Amino acid sequence: MQTFAIPAQEKTMRDFLPLEGTDYIEFYVGNAKQSAHYYQSAFGFQPLAYSGPETGVKDKVSYAVRQNKIILVFTTALRTGNLIADHVYLHGDGVKMLSLRVQDSASAWKETTERGAKSFLEPFTLQDEHGKLVMSGIHLYGETIHLFIERKDYHGTFMPGYRPWKPAYNSEPAGLLHVDHCVANVDWNQMERWVAFYEKVMGFRNILSFDDKDISTEYSALMSKVMSNGNGYVKFPINEPAEGKKKSQVEEYLEFYHGEGVQHIALATHDIVKTVSFLKNRGIEFLKIPSSYYDDLLDRVGHIDEDLGPLKDLGILVDRDDEGYLLQIFSKPVEDRPTLFYEIIQRKGAKSFGKGNFKALFEAIEREQEERGNL
Ligand code: FE2
Repeated sequence: MQTFAIPAQEKTMRDFLPLEGTDYIEFYVGNAKQSAHYYQSAFGFQPLAYSGPETGVKDKVSYAVRQNKIILVFTTALRTGNLIADHVYLHGDGVKMLSLRVQDSASAWKETTERGAKSFLEPFTLQDEHGKLVMSGIHLYGETIHLFIERKDYHGTFMPGYRPWKPAYNSEPAGLLHVDHCVANVDWNQMERWVAFYEKVMGFRNILSFDDKDISTEYSALMSKVMSNGNGYVKFPINEPAEGKKKSQVEEYLEFYHGEGVQHIALATHDIVKTVSFLKNRGIEFLKIPSSYYDDLLDRVGHIDEDLGPLKDLGILVDRDDEGYLLQIFSKPVEDRPTLFYEIIQRKGAKSFGKGNFKALFEAIEREQEERGNL
């Protein structure tokens, strides 16, 4: 096992890795053109930028789409026998890069690699007539990468190598605002390793832990720890399977993704009823919640501003932490493999997560697993 050391001179509490949020999330997929269209038509993303043979890139094609602060990039290999093609063969469509916005990419790379991170990309400057952008990167769980993107001196559409993408088709936005958190599924007994990685290499804190007693059903269990950076802009919860009578959702993921990776991406909205209604009408499928969940909901979470009717009709969950409450809902996997899914979240004061919804989510996923014959 890799160990991560805090340098002796690190006596002060300065944030050695100041993060300004998620910059973009890049997926390696089998067909970038069709993925981009799906995220436009079903999730309401807007076309942003394109890179491929027409922009001088010979071996891959990428489409970037945006909705408010969320930028997603879909990349496909044009030929076999390269990293992207191999990634898709092994994992199916999945998240490759979780890119974080920084003021100083070289410093982010230096601070993290000095603390034990494995380098993926040394600081590298991309330049075009719109300025320069610096990127660097480190390895994460599985084949996932954190890129550090410094774009304060870049004024183009997205980044050098891309041109604006302006197709005739544009969808209406769904009200998705920013990335709230991204969750990892890691292997048996690997959660503590990655908690240590985020604490020591990235300077994050463990703000919340759930053990197998908190998150278990009659059949299976998992453990989860939520890691947050200093300013709370970036949160990465980490799940690991736990012993149960049957196969847990994390084990199913690990089997079909062929290893560790991003389990779900949570996207924030100011109006969850409106956003989820939009997404449902565009074909996004959400997990079904039994109506009994709502019978004693208000006893569990106290007063909420929303009417219960629409929440119950859509299957939106409500939970509470010390500071307020949150509304959330989980999609079914968006690929054929039971791997990546989405969460839509609206926070009303709560900055963390509640325990109650984990169980409701878990039971809903188990019903789906059973239908797939994977429980
Ligand atoms: Fe989540």
